[in-house]
Amino acid sequence: MKILVTGAEGMVARAVARVCAGLGDEVAALAKRELDITDRDAVSRVMIEGGFDTVINCAAYTDVDGAESNPDLCFAVNAEGVENLAKACRDADSVFVTISTDYVFDGSKEGFYDESDEPAPQSVYAAAKLEGEKLAAASYARSIIVRSGWIFGPGGTNFLSVMPDLLSDRKKITAIEDSFGTPTYAVDLAGRLRELAVSGSEGVFHVVNSGEGTSYLGFAKEICSAGGFDDALVAPVSSADLERAAPRPSNSQLGTIRGGILGPLPDWRDAVKRYLTRD
Ligand SMILES: NC(=O)c1ccc[n+]([C@@H]2O[C@H](COP(=O)([O-])OP(=O)(O)OC[C@H]3O[C@@H](n4cnc5c(N)ncnc54)[C@H](OP(=O)(O)O)[C@@H]3O)[C@@H](O)[C@H]2O)c1
Repeated sequence: MKILVTGAEGMVARAVARVCAGLGDEVAALAKRELDITDRDAVSRVMIEGGFDTVINCAAYTDVDGAESNPDLCFAVNAEGVENLAKACRDADSVFVTISTDYVFDGSKEGFYDESDEPAPQSVYAAAKLEGEKLAAASYARSIIVRSGWIFGPGGTNFLSVMPDLLSDRKKITAIEDSFGTPTYAVDLAGRLRELAVSGSEGVFHVVNSGEGTSYLGFAKEICSAGGFDDALVAPVSSADLERAAPRPSNSQLGTIRGGILGPLPDWRDAVKRYLTRD
């Protein structure tokens, strides 16, 4: 399969490029400076010249707090950029997979959000991602929209990904105890993105590792236990104690009523162990 991966320097893109190349795909992984997805002409040119069977869009504006004061750029990338890719895939008759977020939900539900639940974004970032979902589906009905959340993995700069390094350096960390999500290993997500791409599916899928969800505090404790780090370094904090520009859902655990055809991904605790050994 000939695959275009966008946003190639990002955490998920790196995993996707590695997993797909490992399965024998011909992968073109283009960083923002090589393909800016907001540039419609460039997107269409790359698609025409590349002859890709599949596009896996990992490019996104991911600064959740920054988006509150930068909505135009956030929407340009997360909504219009996605539309550019969807249209180019439609014109090329290529498979289009794009990643969305658990943050499209407002957090008021107890338990797991599935694909039938109604999104209610609370932040600019979440609103832009939801708009990207809608534009993808409207411009190319075969689009595969994968909502995931709490992603961690090699090359990641988010809190979940850097926790092991901080704890191994004996840095003290605070972890939110009243925000719940479903952790997802970028490598497992990457494999599932590819499986969906070849499955002939379309529409919205929730993809996370299996197991009960957890809080950031629970995730930190699991990292300590699996990595042999001192859990006295981890102090609980409430989300209300943090002054952040963007609101986040207090519960964004994802479940699926559509992904069952492909079977569950491994438990996130197993994924944490593999992350720590970089397996
Ligand atoms: N991380 C999570 O926990 C999480 C949770 C739910 C959903 N997601 C979604 O998962 C996807 C991948 O996220 P990630 O964690 O891998 O993010 P990431 O590490 O921030 O990677 C995103 C990449 O996209 C690039 N990019 C930004 N604007 C671009 C543009 N106009 N054209 C091309 N590339 C552009 C970024 O480059 P610069 O850094 O140079 O701007 C960055 O390399 C995103 O759709 C994100 O919304 C992530």
